[in-house]
Amino acid sequence: MNADGSAAAAAARAALAGPLPRRWAHARGVARRARTLAVGLPPADAATLVAAAWLHDVGYAPTVARTGFHPLDGARYAHDLGFPDRVAHLVAYHSAAAVKADLLGLTDQMAEFCDEQTLVRDLLWYADMSTDPSGRPVSFDARMAEVRRRRADDPVAVAALDLGMPARRAAWERAEAWLRSGAGQRPRASRV
Ligand SMILES: [Fe+2]
Repeated sequence: MNADGSAAAAAARAALAGPLPRRWAHARGVARRARTLAVGLPPADAATLVAAAWLHDVGYAPTVARTGFHPLDGARYAHDLGFPDRVAHLVAYHSAAAVKADLLGLTDQMAEFCDEQTLVRDLLWYADMSTDPSGRPVSFDARMAEVRRRRADDPVAVAALDLGMPARRAAWERAEAWLRSGAGQRPRASRV
């Protein structure tokens, strides 16, 4: 895996840019956030975070979707393309995906991957949850409200959002604490 994330960016672009331009804009925004956050990480963690950010939503792409659960489909795709296991693990479990997997009866399939529960994992969730669908920075509360509005007609998605809220908020707060400690570089309030 190259350190600048260009291989992951190319894979995500190929899958998302044509059929899902808004999802592609979000992925670009999450990758921008991740690159800024990665400045404070050791090189291997930085490369892993940026690659996972590019690929975290690739499972939405029509050429990638299999089960219809995008974290699982995206993780398998990343694995099949030869990205390191850690990237696939992070994609599989990003942003409280385990909660919805449980509701969908996909926990057994998710066991192909593991949730590493590290700072890198928290920073991926943070980058995703602080980036709106168009790729712009957004607060935690605004992002959660936006997801709730957008998925209002999907009871499983709404239930997953509620059940996963403590884990989402905890990851956000750990990332914020890390940033406050001065170890990381806080993304700018303006578009990054
Ligand atoms: Fe996302």
